Amino acid sequence: MTSLVQVDHQDDVAVVTLNHPPVNALSQDLCRALLAAVRTEAAKDTVRAIVITGGGSTFSGGADISEFGALRERGPGDEFPMHDMINGIEACDKPVIAAIHGNALGGGLETALGCHYRIATPTARIGLPEVKLGLIPGAMGTQRLPRLCGIPKAAEIAASGTMIPAAEAVELGIIDRLAEGDLVADAVQWARELADAGEPPRRTSELTDRLGDPDANAAALEELRKNVARKARGQESPLRCIEAVEAAGTMSFEDGSKNEFRIFGECLASTQSQGLIHAFFGERTVGKIPGITKETPRREIRSAAVIGAGTMGGGIAMTYANAGIPVVIKEVSQDVLEKGLDRIRQNYDVSVKRGKMTPEDVDQRMALITGTTDYSDLADADIIVEAAFEGMDLKKQIFSELDAVAKPGAILATNTSTLDVDAIASATKRPESVIGHHFFSPANVMKLLEIVRGEKTGQDVIATSMDLAKRLRKIGVLVGNCFGFVGNRMFWPFQREAQFVLEEGASVEQVDKAHTDFGMAMGPHAVSDLSGIDVFWRINEEIKDTIPEGMRQPLVAPKLYEMGRYGQKTGAGWYRYEGRRPIPDPEVEALIESLATEAGIERRKISDEEIIERTMYALVNEGALILEEGIALRSVDIDIVYLYGYGFPAWRGGPMKYADMVGLKKVYDRICHYRDTQGFWWEPAPLLKELAENGSTFSEWERPTQNN
Ligand code: 3HC
Repeated sequence: MTSLVQVDHQDDVAVVTLNHPPVNALSQDLCRALLAAVRTEAAKDTVRAIVITGGGSTFSGGADISEFGALRERGPGDEFPMHDMINGIEACDKPVIAAIHGNALGGGLETALGCHYRIATPTARIGLPEVKLGLIPGAMGTQRLPRLCGIPKAAEIAASGTMIPAAEAVELGIIDRLAEGDLVADAVQWARELADAGEPPRRTSELTDRLGDPDANAAALEELRKNVARKARGQESPLRCIEAVEAAGTMSFEDGSKNEFRIFGECLASTQSQGLIHAFFGERTVGKIPGITKETPRREIRSAAVIGAGTMGGGIAMTYANAGIPVVIKEVSQDVLEKGLDRIRQNYDVSVKRGKMTPEDVDQRMALITGTTDYSDLADADIIVEAAFEGMDLKKQIFSELDAVAKPGAILATNTSTLDVDAIASATKRPESVIGHHFFSPANVMKLLEIVRGEKTGQDVIATSMDLAKRLRKIGVLVGNCFGFVGNRMFWPFQREAQFVLEEGASVEQVDKAHTDFGMAMGPHAVSDLSGIDVFWRINEEIKDTIPEGMRQPLVAPKLYEMGRYGQKTGAGWYRYEGRRPIPDPEVEALIESLATEAGIERRKISDEEIIERTMYALVNEGALILEEGIALRSVDIDIVYLYGYGFPAWRGGPMKYADMVGLKKVYDRICHYRDTQGFWWEPAPLLKELAENGSTFSEWERPTQNN
């Protein structure tokens, strides 16, 4: 017996405990060990029933995802230890009960479905999240689950990947009962009762009475397909989940399982699952910062302050209040402050209307938010986040005021989206306490927090910021200090190309549609209209002296700014707006054409493929520079910034993973082509050139260690 499972006996009941921390991921070895333990126990005369449970805080997080790379390479084939394990458990003649606490997810739930009965703690949750990895359940979950809860519900569970609380799973028939006291003690007692009753084990694969009527199932699945396709933004796995579950109604259990494994193999081979698995691990990798350990000191954050009650400041204050941290907002005048506080309440009221919060929740959150017009009221805050307009002089002035009032040890964070954090820190006598906390709009919704380390930012301030991001339910990505950091620095060349292709003949609508077809949440021009063309203009003003001589500059956006077409907020920008609905505007198309003609730009038909190549490769090339300069720690950090801050499709893994999957040689060659046909701003990044020539990828690249 290996230590991957532990077996104890409670008289005539064997308790088999998974022992593979932290989440009891079902590696192939664990599957083999579990099957061996169950078979050994079932063969003993002294054992009348078996309970399977998870060690630590959870039942199981599913198949070991880190083994999928090798599985993809060799192809799943016919041999899959998880199948043998689950079928072996189900085949047992003695009752086997799954005792679930924490989570039973993916292969973890599929294992529990192979057991004859299931008991769970009231706080446990179950689900089939494979879809979020670009996969479908591959261990017969699509065949056993519908036999417990019906085909439409099983399809919905598999296609959404949502976690279901134990009580709901009982109502659905997936779990048999909730534990009333100690989970394992209750399971053991029930196992003994089942053994006493002497009934044959109830095998899920043999149940048919809940499979339902084919016509009713078909109608329900049709409806589900429509909903799923609308939300999937090009992701294939949700529809493939439905396809696999549907087969439970038309095929035998055995054939349905074979069909499932075929689809699982196809999904595993797809670039979509590679992208999504990269994103899964990436989300966890970004929290790992070289030099920062559990022992690195942290500063305590019990209270916060925010400078500015505008859209950003208000959203940041809500984020703190949502995490239970009291926050005071400072504004220049009572009038502006009250408008800001009103807007916060209105935002919360929308959540109440949508059923996401109760009025009591809102009262609680609002009680945590107070306002002031006086800097001295910030003296007690453990962290102060400045969210004023994007302008260096203003930010410096605010930071010198903060330096005067903030208590020793307070963290002074700037929400700048582009400006030099060191220059801002230089306005204080405590640059070690200054850091960038770049939230994304709307700050209370968007998951990304770019944490910008200045040259003198203390390690304790970085460590505290990374922990704080988690408390605020954000994904914190540590980045270096430069214009626009990771996200906006890359967004600049992306936006530039999105405008150049317009001047060369594409329409605003075509460019945006090419991007949404690619899977982006929004097209670049719709994004500009949402963020505000005036905002982009203001940032451009800050950096215009740094633009290299002779570099082509977009012609249209400055004109729209001059015309007062700032985007949604003025009812017109790249589009005309009816409410929030964008309507293509012939006036803008005429403006583009006349500006392009005036500048002598030849207009031609531009393919969607060229549009995407130019915007995406511009993004990737800048990403490669950022990576080499050390502004991003790893390429996956860049990917996570784009997935959570810029609506990049997770199933493409992020811009750097996308480039890896296209092949860096191809990306490099096309960038050279654009350099030769467009201009020097397309010069390929040295790192991209090196990796392309070596047949390598961004994911494989490791930063050379410095010897001095
Ligand atoms: N395989 C391998 N590693 C896993 C894993 C899995 N299924 N689930 C989690 N881990 C790892 C994480 O990478 C992390 O590693 P790290 O500490 O080195 O960064 C560690 O376990 C802890 O994970 P979290 O930080 O995410 O811990 P939480 O407590 O916040 O969350 C969880 C736990 C809800 C289980 C979450 O980890 C999760 O959602 N895991 C993935 C669940 C999933 O997708 N399961 C399906 C797998 S595919 C499958 O089963 C196919 C089958 O049908 C054939």
